[in-house]
Amino acid sequence: MPNEESSHRQLLEFLVAAGVETPLDEHPVDRFALSVPPPAKAEVPRPDPEVHAEPRATAGGAPAPLAPDAAIMEARRLAASAPDLETLRALLDAFEGCALKSTASRLVFADGEPGAPVMIVGEAPGRDEDEIGRPFVGRAGQLLDKMLSAIGLNRGNVYVANTVPWRPPGNRTPTPQEIAICLPFITRQIELSAPEILVTMGAPATQTLLGQKEGILRLRGRWFEYGLKGRPIPALATLHPAYLLRQPSQKALAWRDLRALRAKLRHLA
Ligand code: URA
Repeated sequence: MPNEESSHRQLLEFLVAAGVETPLDEHPVDRFALSVPPPAKAEVPRPDPEVHAEPRATAGGAPAPLAPDAAIMEARRLAASAPDLETLRALLDAFEGCALKSTASRLVFADGEPGAPVMIVGEAPGRDEDEIGRPFVGRAGQLLDKMLSAIGLNRGNVYVANTVPWRPPGNRTPTPQEIAICLPFITRQIELSAPEILVTMGAPATQTLLGQKEGILRLRGRWFEYGLKGRPIPALATLHPAYLLRQPSQKALAWRDLRALRAKLRHLA
């Protein structure tokens, strides 16, 4: 008979093997509210995002969380003020408007060559990316590298980033609100890297950046125009390598998209 300690250990081992990485309580806990007691209602006029776009400090010195609208305004203001990618990275690192930052270990900004002709945008960092601080370094990243090398590309001639730069807890899909808050940063990142071709991998990047509503299986393989400040550039929607790891039979579709990308690059050369 297993004793109590060994059955707890077995349960934990089972949960870890099943991919559970983030302990969750039965009921959601608003940890911002725990650390920052809300002031009395009468003292707090409804924040006007135009007016309250600056990060605010609490009595303890920690920045108070911004309301989503204010966070989006602040993200737009900061992103627009960045003259280059290094400044954008620093501004994003200091940005407190997205709750994902509080559960992630670090910012995952970009990898590859800034200014490369191809920029790839994925969904969000996973566990490996969160540990290392670079996008697409885990299993999906290794598959991405193989896909790129099949058409003569590598991290030396592509620039890689994500729709959101912090790992969502347990690798869940980022919420529409988290995506909306981070959107000004990734659009500015695309603008500053100024690729010739944008590749969106998976539904969140494709739908968010290319303004599409259909599912990725309908969108993949299609070319769109991405409005890069007065210079529309071609944008290809394709399948996410993490999806291909789960559905290897779909690699044939991804291969078609890669060939289309290679043909477009040759055409632009
Ligand atoms: N999946 C993504 O979309 N991005 C990463 O960086 C890693 C996995």
